[in-house]
Amino acid sequence: MNQISVIFEQPNGEEHHCVARCGDTLMDVALDNGVPGIVAQCGGGCTCCTCHCWIQSPWFERIPGAGQDEIDILAYAWGVADNSRLACQVVLTADLDGLRAWVPAQQSLN
Ligand code: FES
Repeated sequence: MNQISVIFEQPNGEEHHCVARCGDTLMDVALDNGVPGIVAQCGGGCTCCTCHCWIQSPWFERIPGAGQDEIDILAYAWGVADNSRLACQVVLTADLDGLRAWVPAQQSLN
């Protein structure tokens, strides 16, 4: 499977259904589809945390754990939770088909 579906949900419940290429990052998909709230100011460099999102179970558990750089930057994101990830650090694979990510309100408003 080279393509999977990914859903971004906004704070108001609006959903963005996207087709994603395996090997791309979740940030790539958001930017390619103009998803509000995934700002990605650093362009995927893991230095800005404006690509923060919450990943729904069971997809969250299928993603390899965050590296120390991501953990360090996530500390500066708004509303960090157990299922927080930086979208630029999530590489999409076939077993992430159907992944749902929630976009924080603070990013959507910017
Ligand atoms: Fe900057 Fe992800 S795009 S940390």
